[in-house]
Amino acid sequence: PRVAILISGGGSNMVTLVKAMHMGAIAATPVLVLSNNPEAGGLAKARDLGVETAVVDHRPFKGDRAAFDAAMLAVLQKAQPDIICCAGFMRILTAEFIDHWAGKMLNIHPSLLPKYKGLNTHQRAIDAGDKVAGVSVHVVTSELDGGPVLGQAEVEVRESDTAEDLGARVLVQEHILYPQVLANFVKRDD
Ligand code: GRF
Repeated sequence: PRVAILISGGGSNMVTLVKAMHMGAIAATPVLVLSNNPEAGGLAKARDLGVETAVVDHRPFKGDRAAFDAAMLAVLQKAQPDIICCAGFMRILTAEFIDHWAGKMLNIHPSLLPKYKGLNTHQRAIDAGDKVAGVSVHVVTSELDGGPVLGQAEVEVRESDTAEDLGARVLVQEHILYPQVLANFVKRDD
């Protein structure tokens, strides 16, 4: 299967997915890295890995989500992906866009869903006094961070943790979990 990866920033999760596909650890091919942010650091990393990149800057679309998503869809359709992986992608997609991919779009979210949907997940876990935090990979549905969870990884929360400390510990697990989940997901050719 052909995999497109959506990023907005550094793309460290994208890098681990691309490397795993290039190594054959995931039986799939990375066909496009697409960012809404022209300055995303992940774009250069993707190019260094020999993966096609594209940018659909969301800013000119202002609040018109449908128009932005239509532009994204047009670019994606040229790459003809079978699966879309959101990896540090920070835009909320319309239900129409999501429905187009019908269960073939994944996302990684830095919390143990269903806890802490949305943003600032690490600070919220710390503020709640949680002893365990973590990361989830889920199927994207029109409910923000709400789709079926395909895999999770836990990390301990330490007394001294700042949100940055916890985020760094979770990121390590993200880089292990996402390739594992995608490898299993591509095998399930249902
Ligand atoms: C990560 O913390 C991830 O949980 C979230 O976006 C952050 C940046 O990821 N999805 P990346 O380095 O851009 O892959």
